[in-house]
Amino acid sequence: MLIHKIEEVRAQVKEWKKEGLSVGLVPTMGALHAGHLSLIKKAKETCDKVVVSDFVNPIQFGPSEDFDKYPRTLDEDVRLCSGEDVDIVFAPSADEMYGGNKIRLSNDTLTYVCPPFFYVNTLCGKSRTGHFDGVCTVVLKLFNIVQPDYAFFGQKDAQQVIIIKKMVNDLNVPINIIQCPIIREESGLALSSRNKYLTEQGKKDALVLSKILNNIKTCYSKGITDVSALKETAYSFLTDKHDMEYLEIVDRDTLENKTKADDNSIALIACRVENVRLIDNIYLKEEN
Ligand code: PAF
Repeated sequence: MLIHKIEEVRAQVKEWKKEGLSVGLVPTMGALHAGHLSLIKKAKETCDKVVVSDFVNPIQFGPSEDFDKYPRTLDEDVRLCSGEDVDIVFAPSADEMYGGNKIRLSNDTLTYVCPPFFYVNTLCGKSRTGHFDGVCTVVLKLFNIVQPDYAFFGQKDAQQVIIIKKMVNDLNVPINIIQCPIIREESGLALSSRNKYLTEQGKKDALVLSKILNNIKTCYSKGITDVSALKETAYSFLTDKHDMEYLEIVDRDTLENKTKADDNSIALIACRVENVRLIDNIYLKEEN
């Protein structure tokens, strides 16, 4: 069922709750791919009813980012969701979500959720000022609208999941956050809606991200723990097709920097290929 209005989602969820049914939310910005479908499948396994939100959230995009050209494929998204037996696709307009408030990274008129500086001033947050404020604000709004028991996020956006878990913990939001593994193409490329911007050659060049991460994991498994040495190994993979933004190895729960990697470390990378900003990550221990 496709719903555009907040009050209609609320009314339907209220009915389900009266019947004692559990509700899962999969927040998305649409342009659904197999990565999103894996979250939906997990939600279907875990919950009686599943809501997928499909909303390109203007306040998490910076002024020079790709908000206007971000892929919008609602009809196809609805078709994919029906195939997975999703109960509600919630696709509000920006007006429905933000009413008369000014949108796009301006907090002149809107109440924002601002995660702590330490969490947002690192990794993706360094180049995307205000991004995580926009993410947490819309996610908390979606949580308040849908009031799910569970919400499902992909590990691909590892920093996002850590920040959302922190928000939920700090603000006592009664929702279980479930993180699901990264889904990759056979080539190793992590699935992302932004892969749609890449040419076939760009997709090949983009494989460098997963190659760098896998190589770091292999080096770690062979006993190299010095973070600088592990990061150094990336340079042999990079060409002039790659504009690396960051490569970091941090604690996978707290994002704290380390000088020595350990079994709780995660390596994260952001790199532009054909001017498309791609991110990926890998746990140094455990398959993912
Ligand atoms: O990960 C995303 O697609 C978005 O950041 C989210 C969580 C749907 C919020 O707009």
